[in-house]
Amino acid sequence: MNALQSISRGAVSSWSSQNRAARLLRIFLGLTWIYAGWDKASDSGFLTKGAPTYIGSQLAAYAQNSPIGFLLNRTLEHATYVGIFVMVSEFAIGIATILSVAPASAAFGGFAMSTGLWLSSSFHTTPYFLASDSAYAVMWLAFLLLLIGNRRMPATNFQRRSVLRTSIVGVLAVAASFAGRALPKSAASSSVKSSTKASGTQIIKVADLPVGKTFNFVHSAQGVPAVLFRTKTGVFAYSAICTHEGCSVAYKASSKKLVCPCHGAQFDPFANAKAVAGPTNRALDKVNVKISGAWVVEA
Ligand code: FES
Repeated sequence: MNALQSISRGAVSSWSSQNRAARLLRIFLGLTWIYAGWDKASDSGFLTKGAPTYIGSQLAAYAQNSPIGFLLNRTLEHATYVGIFVMVSEFAIGIATILSVAPASAAFGGFAMSTGLWLSSSFHTTPYFLASDSAYAVMWLAFLLLLIGNRRMPATNFQRRSVLRTSIVGVLAVAASFAGRALPKSAASSSVKSSTKASGTQIIKVADLPVGKTFNFVHSAQGVPAVLFRTKTGVFAYSAICTHEGCSVAYKASSKKLVCPCHGAQFDPFANAKAVAGPTNRALDKVNVKISGAWVVEA
């Protein structure tokens, strides 16, 4: 029996032998992790320096408030590799969970990743139950304990066939990552459009930003995506990193709010960017800008 037959037979028998609670956790967690991998792979900005959704910008934003900020700061230099690792790992964990290949190792990987995300991005979310990462960590741990309790699913198996099965999952994860890169999300579904920044600390010419308009840019000193506003009285800007779990907010002219597409948080840019809706109480960080001659510049 070759490795592919082994995977399909193992998947079928594992689905039929598991109880309903384990199946429910397995299908939800497995598909969610595959979707998370696809969401990153199909985001053309995720691995692109300077883009609002660039992994390096997200890590830099997380590092400002995270209890493991010192570790996150060390990853910034290699942010693109971190992004690739996270994306491929999400695919691999999801596929392995659905197919029941090294399921306990995959569940431990899901638990470790969720815990890492909780410490990085949602540690300060209040009340705590609004932080989805901690809920995922608990779900993965529960699933892992179910698997460990089932002696028919050993945590590690170094037989040749197991190595082959795991390698096939790795190949599928890499192939899925390339497929996502080849099928990017449309600009409309991306969180925030990227805009080219002028050289140095110049952001945009004042003449190119009429009163009442906004401009998305990346703050070169802080390395964070930001949204610039021009009103009759001057200019101001806020970080585009949502204070809930770090998604990129976008300005919605119809409601005059900065809106997060992930969990619906809203911020009022005309009242110090305070949170006015959604699962966060924290305002967006202010980004210092000013008008200097004919330009809006970083202050
Ligand atoms: S990341 Fe959750 S509301 Fe923005």
